[in-house]
Amino acid sequence: MSNKTSAVVKTNPRKAVMIGCGFVGSASVFALMQSGLFSEIVLIDADKDKAEGEAMDISHGIPFARPMKIYAGGYDDVADAAIIVVSAGAGQKPGETRLDLVNKNVAIFKSIIPEIAKRNFGGILLIVANPVDILTQVAQKLSGLPEERVIGSGTVLDSARLKYALGEHLEVDSRSVHAFIVGEHGDSEVVAWSSANVSGVELHKMCEMRGHYKHKENTEEIAANVKNSAYEIINRKHATYYGIAMSVRRICEVIMRDEKSILPVSHMMHGQYGIDGVVLSMPAIVGANGVESDIPIELNGEEALKLKESADALKSILDGLEL
Ligand SMILES: NC(=O)c1ccc[n+]([C@@H]2O[C@H](COP(=O)([O-])OP(=O)(O)OC[C@H]3O[C@@H](n4cnc5c(N)ncnc54)[C@H](O)[C@@H]3O)[C@@H](O)[C@H]2O)c1
Repeated sequence: MSNKTSAVVKTNPRKAVMIGCGFVGSASVFALMQSGLFSEIVLIDADKDKAEGEAMDISHGIPFARPMKIYAGGYDDVADAAIIVVSAGAGQKPGETRLDLVNKNVAIFKSIIPEIAKRNFGGILLIVANPVDILTQVAQKLSGLPEERVIGSGTVLDSARLKYALGEHLEVDSRSVHAFIVGEHGDSEVVAWSSANVSGVELHKMCEMRGHYKHKENTEEIAANVKNSAYEIINRKHATYYGIAMSVRRICEVIMRDEKSILPVSHMMHGQYGIDGVVLSMPAIVGANGVESDIPIELNGEEALKLKESADALKSILDGLEL
C-alpha cells in the first residue's frame, strides 16, 4: 500500500497514457481515439520515433472522430493521467507461451513502474502486457499504489472470445451471452461453464433450443479453440491486437464512466475459493476507483479445482521472481 497518498497529483479525467506503442498499444490508442472518452492521449515508448509515428498516424483520424490531442511524451506526462495503460513488453513468438515472457517483461516493468510511482500518480494503472496476471502483481508491488487501482486486462479478452464463439455456435448475438473465463489469462485458464447463460437461460437448455445436443464435445471444443486462439492468430499474423484493443477500450469506458460493470479483470485474491495473495482474473465490479468488489460467481467442484491449480501455477512463477 502507498504511503504517498497525501501528495497524489490531481487527475485530469480526460487524459490517458499508453506506455508501449507496438501492435497492442497503437491498436488500443486507435480504439480509444474513436471512443470519445479522452481529450488527451500521450504515447510513450522506448522507441521515441515509434511513439511519434503512431501519434501522427492516429491523429490523422481525429477529423472523423472528435477533437483531441494525441502526442508522444515522457514520464513527466503521466502524473495527472486518469488512466495509464501498460502494453510495453515482448510479445509471444510462435511456440512461446505467455509465461515464457515473464523474465523479459519483468525487467521492462522494473524500468517503467518506478517512473510512474515517483510521480505520485493518482489514477488507475491498467496492465496489458503478458503474462498479464503476474505483471499486474509485479506492478502492484513496484508501484506501491493501492491494489484496487492496479488491475490487469486479465481474461476480459478470453471471455469476449468465448462469448463470440458461443454466439456463433448458437446463432445469437454474442452480447446476449453471459459467460466468463477465470484464472490465468493463459494456458491454465478455466471456463466457468456452470454459470454460463444466454439472457438468463441456462447454457445447455439454450444449446438444445438451437439444435445442439453434444454438450461435452461442443464445450470441450469451444474451450480449446478459445484457449488456443492467440496461438492460432500468432501463427498466422505474428501478433494479436484488435481484440485486446477493444477490451482495453471497454475497460477504460467502464472506469472513466464509473459504470460499475462486472468484468473479469486481473486483481488480487483474498481467500476467495481458497486462493490468497495471487493476482488472477475473476469477475469484479469495476468503476472509477478500479476494482470495487469481487463477484464470487458459482463454480462447480471441477472448475474450483482447476482455478486453484491455475492460481498455484501463477504462484510458483511469482515465487521465483526477484522484485
Ligand atoms: N493481455 C492481453 O490480452 C494481450 C493480448 C495481446 C498481446 N498482449 C501482450 O502485450 C504486449 C505487447 O505486445 P505487442 O504485440 O504490442 O508487442 P510489440 O513488440 O509490437 O510492442 C511492444 C512495444 O513495447 C516497447 N517497449 C519495450 N520496452 C519498453 C520500455 N522499457 N519502455 C517503453 N516501451 C517499451 C517496444 O519498443 C514496442 O514498441 C506483449 O506482452 C503481448 O504478449 C496482451
